[in-house]
Amino acid sequence: MKHIAKIIASAAALAVSTFSAHAADFRLGLITPPPHIWTKAAGAFGEELAAASGGKHSVSVFPARQLGNEAEMLQQLQTGALDMAFMTIAEVSNRAPELGAFYAPYLAKDIGHAGRILRSDTAKSMLEPLPGQVGVVGVGYGMAGLRQVVSRGEVNSAADLAGLKLRITPFTPILDFYNAVGAAPTPMPLPAVYDALANGQVDAIDMDAELIWVLKYYEHADTIVQSDHMMFPMVGLVSARVWAGLSEDDRAMIGDLMAKHVDSTIDSYVAKEAGWLEQIAGTGKTYTKVDASFFGDAVDEWNAIWSKKTSSLDALRATAAETE
Ligand code: BEZ
Repeated sequence: MKHIAKIIASAAALAVSTFSAHAADFRLGLITPPPHIWTKAAGAFGEELAAASGGKHSVSVFPARQLGNEAEMLQQLQTGALDMAFMTIAEVSNRAPELGAFYAPYLAKDIGHAGRILRSDTAKSMLEPLPGQVGVVGVGYGMAGLRQVVSRGEVNSAADLAGLKLRITPFTPILDFYNAVGAAPTPMPLPAVYDALANGQVDAIDMDAELIWVLKYYEHADTIVQSDHMMFPMVGLVSARVWAGLSEDDRAMIGDLMAKHVDSTIDSYVAKEAGWLEQIAGTGKTYTKVDASFFGDAVDEWNAIWSKKTSSLDALRATAAETE
């Protein structure tokens, strides 16, 4: 609640008078496919908003990049052409580099810990500059699972990743990480990944357990390295222009309900991550579980680069220690 009150104040400071009508049917975009946990949470948010507003508001959900990739959707949010999105913090961090601190390798010791970090006041405070900085209101966090490595060849050590074309989500913290590892990181949006791995356009991918299992990425791989090296936060966003045109009551209702449903994804991943990993391990592919030492100096290199790029690392580390 405190967080929603602060973002109401900060978005009001930015208030743009061009948007005055109250949209009755909000358009919400995401890149994830229909069966994905984020997409289901978006649908549930729309249903609850329609009920809570007595039918005054509804939400049309556009999954699977129907409205464009995340960079394009972020632009649409800025202009008010799109009302809402559930988006990777990865994409938002391209405009707000402070958020890159979430990707400190091994900041979270496991998926539950990642959830506790994202539910902290430190994490919430990092959303407050977004209306002024990016033109969007961040109502709260969700997440996907921790990141793993899936490879077409055998990977027994980080040396085996050297020079591999390794698909990454297009954002700088993960690029810096795999450059430090010595791989050839290849930025590629989610919908292109299956074919790229299947046809050998990339040798390996950085991915989470849900998608490795549900979208069957493992079918085109020889090795799965359960490295759990990074968390992968998501954020519920409302266009600041649209937000500025809403009444205080609507902002509170929409902000609270959206925050509730993006937060519910944290519980889903905490409950399901271990089961997906177990099923992936049972596929007969080479499956290894490693820790930070697998990546050698790359973790320290990342920390050295990012301690200069973001001032939030120390606060997030302190929060990580408190919530361990
Ligand atoms: C990815 O780029 O790997 C990704 C994007 C959204 C949800 C999950 C994974």
